[in-house]
Amino acid sequence: MAEISTLFVTRLYRAALNDLAKVPVDYDELKRTCETFAEDDEAGQQWCEDNGYPGYTSYASLSDLAWRSPLFADLTKALDKHVAAFCKALEFDLQGKKLKCDSLWINILPEGGTHASHIHPHSVISGTTYVSMPEGTSALKLEDPRLPMMMNAPLRKKGADQAVRPFVYVKPLVGDVLLWESWLRHEVPMNMAEEERISVSFNYNWG
Ligand SMILES: [Fe+2]
Repeated sequence: MAEISTLFVTRLYRAALNDLAKVPVDYDELKRTCETFAEDDEAGQQWCEDNGYPGYTSYASLSDLAWRSPLFADLTKALDKHVAAFCKALEFDLQGKKLKCDSLWINILPEGGTHASHIHPHSVISGTTYVSMPEGTSALKLEDPRLPMMMNAPLRKKGADQAVRPFVYVKPLVGDVLLWESWLRHEVPMNMAEEERISVSFNYNWG
């Protein structure tokens, strides 16, 4: 019997944020807080307009959400625990250190908005927690990082195992957190729902 090994694994972490939260995060309140930040952040709105960004992101304008809002401080504490659990699963030798959240930002994607394929440079672990996922809104699309090297690789059969597919779509629930290594290319396809798709994304790096 032949032996087929699995090498160079790409891991995706998914959990309910509040499973590890000391102070549970109320996602209804988080949604209202995200909407309020978006309404009040004129510099952020201007940045989105200048850069052709659909909807709103606080990425370029608010770098201290955890300091501005106790809710975001609680959220970050819970994320710290999930990231630590993921690092353990990845068997990272962190040499006694912990990865730290060095950026955390709000994304509000309106109907018709997309977020094109990208990676998160200068970071180790990246991820998102989902605040509002209306019926019919986009999944997260993840891409095999070896695609540029697959010069003549065949397509995969319909219903092929997720582990061997070149693209994987993940549809998280409100309250979920997804984590991946920051080099993993991902995108948010078009939001086909009428309502906004709201999420909070973050990067963790060496402290
Ligand atoms: Fe991203």
